[in-house]
Amino acid sequence: MTGFAEHFDLKIPLALAPMALAAGGDLASACARAGTLGLVGGGYGDLEWTAREYQIAIDTIGGDAAAMGRLGCGFISWKLAENSAALDWLIANHKPAAIMLSFGDPRPFAKRIVSSGAALICQIHSLKDLPLAIEAGAKIIVAQGTEAGGHGATQDSGRGTFAFIPEAADWIAAHAPGTYLLGAGGIADGRGVAAALALGADGVMMGSRLWATKECLAAPKAKEIVVESDGDGTARSAVFDILRRKNWPEIFDFRAIRNDIHREWEDRIDHLKNAPEKARADYGEGVRNDDYNRVHIGIGESIGLITGIPAAASLIDDIQAEMDSALKRIHG
Ligand SMILES: Cc1cc2nc3c(=O)[nH]c(=O)nc-3n(C[C@H](O)[C@H](O)[C@H](O)COP(=O)(O)O)c2cc1C
Repeated sequence: MTGFAEHFDLKIPLALAPMALAAGGDLASACARAGTLGLVGGGYGDLEWTAREYQIAIDTIGGDAAAMGRLGCGFISWKLAENSAALDWLIANHKPAAIMLSFGDPRPFAKRIVSSGAALICQIHSLKDLPLAIEAGAKIIVAQGTEAGGHGATQDSGRGTFAFIPEAADWIAAHAPGTYLLGAGGIADGRGVAAALALGADGVMMGSRLWATKECLAAPKAKEIVVESDGDGTARSAVFDILRRKNWPEIFDFRAIRNDIHREWEDRIDHLKNAPEKARADYGEGVRNDDYNRVHIGIGESIGLITGIPAAASLIDDIQAEMDSALKRIHG
């Protein structure tokens, strides 16, 4: 049992990533009830969406105090800087166990979160982000490697999970003992959890694997495509952010299935930025027709380990059993 697991009374040191618009109330509550940390994907900070999904999570948990102690929410920091209404609402009306800030400077919002009693989780993408997160008051650091699905650091500015975790663990041991470290990016089964623990993490955060569950809000057709794809089939780029008119800072981009529209533009990003109209029309038609050769599916390299769409609780049981057997195998 790690300190992180003890802190939230977890049966396995695992956290659901607060995936924007995908990790809704049903998925977050299923994870919290199954003994992991369950974070609602507050993402871009839409107040109506966040309030609805957080309430669904509370209703589904139905008075189970232990599970409520494992429920929280995550937000995108650079979007909160434009509008923090959803975070304000959450802190004013509820007592989340944890609030996660990702993608941008956490400091403008950190004090309010820490003084609300929620554990502050900060996602980092390179070692230089670490002192800033500690300065903000993070209790938990998520070291996200570029294997991760959805947004993250670009291949050049980010890190690979396997070398990032032990380096971050050493830094924390030397400079901020008592802070918990979670590894994220490419971890999708119990072997990955065991590996992250061996590398010095106190637990892991999973996005892609928990995305492919019954409770996730993603479209069923997109989930089917994910089950059929292998890990060679994703790529990082700004293509889908440009097509979707999302003004992400340039140090971040997006890992998704490398579909036809991605291939068409991935080597011509400047051209796409300068003249996006035709490509946006093409993407829009894809959305109207449910055509995933054009519509994005944000998912990570671990897609090759996703072989079905189980309920979150049964997936978590499997991950725990795999973790136990991986640890036994290592011990001989
Ligand atoms: C569909 C999708 C949406 C995501 N949205 C967010 C988000 O809104 N905020 C955030 O902090 N991380 C987000 N992430 C990244 C996760 O927090 C996490 O770092 C990542 O999923 C871990 O890597 P994995 O996908 O290999 O498990 C998202 C990931 C996915 C797959």
